[in-house]
Amino acid sequence: METKKTLSRKTSEELFTKSKTYFPGGVNSPVRAFKSVEGSPLFIKKGDGCRIWDEDDNEFIDFCCSWGPLILGHNHPSIYEKVVATMQNGASFGAPTRLENELAELILSRNPYIDKLRFTSSGTEAVMSALRLARGYTGKTKIIKFEGCYHGHSDALLVKAGSGLVTFGESSSAGVTENVAKDTLVLPLNDIEALKKCIVDYAGEIACAIIEPIPANNGLLLQDKSFLIALREICTENEILLFFDEVISGFRVAFSGAAEYYGITPDIVTYGKIIGGGLPVGAYGAKKEIMACVSPDGPVYQAGTLSGNPVAMAAGIAQLSECAKPEFYKILEATTAHFVHEINAYAEAKKYNFELVTIGSIFWLSFDGKKRIQQAEQINPDMTSFKIIHRELLNRGVYLGPSGYEVGFVSAAHKPEDLQYAIRAFCESLDCVFAH
Ligand SMILES: Cc1ncc(COP(=O)(O)O)c(C=O)c1O
Repeated sequence: METKKTLSRKTSEELFTKSKTYFPGGVNSPVRAFKSVEGSPLFIKKGDGCRIWDEDDNEFIDFCCSWGPLILGHNHPSIYEKVVATMQNGASFGAPTRLENELAELILSRNPYIDKLRFTSSGTEAVMSALRLARGYTGKTKIIKFEGCYHGHSDALLVKAGSGLVTFGESSSAGVTENVAKDTLVLPLNDIEALKKCIVDYAGEIACAIIEPIPANNGLLLQDKSFLIALREICTENEILLFFDEVISGFRVAFSGAAEYYGITPDIVTYGKIIGGGLPVGAYGAKKEIMACVSPDGPVYQAGTLSGNPVAMAAGIAQLSECAKPEFYKILEATTAHFVHEINAYAEAKKYNFELVTIGSIFWLSFDGKKRIQQAEQINPDMTSFKIIHRELLNRGVYLGPSGYEVGFVSAAHKPEDLQYAIRAFCESLDCVFAH
């Protein structure tokens, strides 16, 4: 029996008509707009476990998971309870609270890569602030960034940066001045020679090299470990800070992120998404000597009215306490590996040019088959197949983020029976894609 059903979108469509009169494109973040897939966005009214429901009461198994933060799924009881209990004492004070200490302790006691951190309210803010810190600490101006890596929407980093921009066919954003862009040196991923040349060309001028150690915003561009190791060594030799942007990979592939997964020590790290348990939190951290530059201890200014917000800290504490439990990541990775394997085995048996690329509990739909893609420009820009599979999966009650450049996430709330259903839906949807 097929899993397909008819999706009513009446209420979502009405809400979208209204929202377009309020917000550019009807949304408050561009990729939500469904522009690169069929139809208009579904307005979500509720989530529980691995499931979400839209305003037309359609039910979905959710692999978007709010673009990564929800590693425990929706409405996890311990997050819910801690948030409600905290909220009863007030939402915000603009003064230090015990909860900031608790979340910092939870993180720092398990993380050998950083001594101190600073909480912000988003990943963008964390990266932007840490970049200022890198420049302030080194006294140097230029930064290296890698093509296809997304680091949030601060000006210096909106150059050749990830899904949102690629989805809309822009390699960079209007409004970013040439002066700002010229200090961002963009290099291809996984290319040691290009890196070496750049460092010779700009000797003594480069403050840091920022990378998503697991680039997951423009497909899933898994890098050779040897490239990441070489990057570490070259940065050390040339007194350039190695900056791991772990907004996606942090607390996702391991508690201490890709640094732990690969055993590579960065100089500066940023976190976001999972750290806030679904509420807006980011953080940056480094060793003591570097963090000593941050205001009020040092000259690099950075602040935030809602930084360290108690309710957001509470959600982060509840979520990370679960993540810190023994075997948490091992189990999640094994669950994901089974899910991915079943779908890939089906695609292979049918000789479909398709593969789910995976690491930890992240997966990406590659319609380039088994070709290992490590650089942004290698991705086939024709998104026809993704459009079809996205539609077919929605019709079967499986929700993916609406862009073929984005990754999906498995959460601890995805139970074997949910995944078994999703595997079937994926296989049927692949049949639809390749029937053409
Ligand atoms: C690696 C990376 N850095 C930074 C950001 C920006 O985080 P935020 O959307 O919380 O501002 C993102 C968001 O997707 C990200 O994936």
